[in-house]
Amino acid sequence: MSTVWTQARRAARMNPSIIREILKVTEKPGILSMAGGLPSADTFPVDEIKAACDRVLSQNPKEALQYASSEGFAPLREWVAARVAQLGIQARPDQVLITSGSQQGLDLVGKVMCDAGAPVAVETPTYLGALQAFNPYEPIYASLASDEGGVRPEAIAALPHDAPGTRFAYLLPNYQNPTGRVMSAQRREAVVAAAQAARLPIVEDNPYGDLWFDQPPPASLSSLWPEGSLYLGSFSKVLTPGFRLGYMIAPDELYPKLLQAKQAADLHTPGFNQRVVHEVIRNGFLDQHVPKIRARYKANRDAMAAAMQTHLRPAASGRAPRAACSSGYACLRASMRWRCCRWRWRPASLSCRVRPSTPSILIRARCACPS
Ligand SMILES: Cc1ncc(COP(=O)(O)O)c(C=O)c1O
Repeated sequence: MSTVWTQARRAARMNPSIIREILKVTEKPGILSMAGGLPSADTFPVDEIKAACDRVLSQNPKEALQYASSEGFAPLREWVAARVAQLGIQARPDQVLITSGSQQGLDLVGKVMCDAGAPVAVETPTYLGALQAFNPYEPIYASLASDEGGVRPEAIAALPHDAPGTRFAYLLPNYQNPTGRVMSAQRREAVVAAAQAARLPIVEDNPYGDLWFDQPPPASLSSLWPEGSLYLGSFSKVLTPGFRLGYMIAPDELYPKLLQAKQAADLHTPGFNQRVVHEVIRNGFLDQHVPKIRARYKANRDAMAAAMQTHLRPAASGRAPRAACSSGYACLRASMRWRCCRWRWRPASLSCRVRPSTPSILIRARCACPS
């Protein structure tokens, strides 16, 4: 029977999230997927969250459960402005828009900035979830040539010629998803200088920046060019993704449109969630919590790297990841590339089992080359 529903053209551009599909596999017992950016559930501060829920519900129950402002809970916006100042980003609280995860920030950027047929510049490869967010708005993609150090400045310089009218460059300077690479300070300066010369705004996505192992990443791109950058942050990797809480720092000229786009999408991010998170973090909790996450992920990374050295086929070689951007056990997503046999750089496909209560990891590793 023929359908009575006619779908919009943009619906044809929506695809099931590959990431969600991958995450389904992680529900199987014994599987620890390195494919999605899943934080280790063992790091979730359950007791602190429980106590914060109690305080919010006993102190401000009516406000917490009522509709709330679209911009976000004012004390949380102030907290975010102070926090990003530590990254060198000078933002007023009224530039902070609290979003339902940074994923919603990507969708709002797409809604406000993309037009059918207008180019958007992305790293190669880039975060699939961003493409999923932008796709319905029908951009075309200008792939930016990238190397181990991130996007190449000359690729940005060439955009006015190669892809005139590019709306923005979507960049992940810290522990890039999916490669894990980090841009050096020098590269950041060159990239920003090229973007400024090309008059190309930057959308900087930084969910993993706090999860460094050896040294913090260099200054954010947004700090180098505040008026030409839009910054996306998230509580998912440092606290819990369950609250779906993220934020954007938007330039004044974009903020009102992003706000209207958010109002149309969900009116506001749940006020209860915002209050609970603010209650947990307002007295410096993350300053103690995040170093613990880093230490844990680093130990897991070391165990994983050692096990891979031992158990992967002898022809394999690689380098240890520099940050935990994926599961709690190690960031292996392509930041660790393995040379397998006669094949060129191919990611190893891994599944592993963790012994309860220890960071030791049993790995069944399979190199990706058919042999
Ligand atoms: C690069 C990148 N951006 C954004 C997101 C979305 O994060 P959030 O949970 O804040 O929506 C993710 C999630 O893994 C990510 O890896």
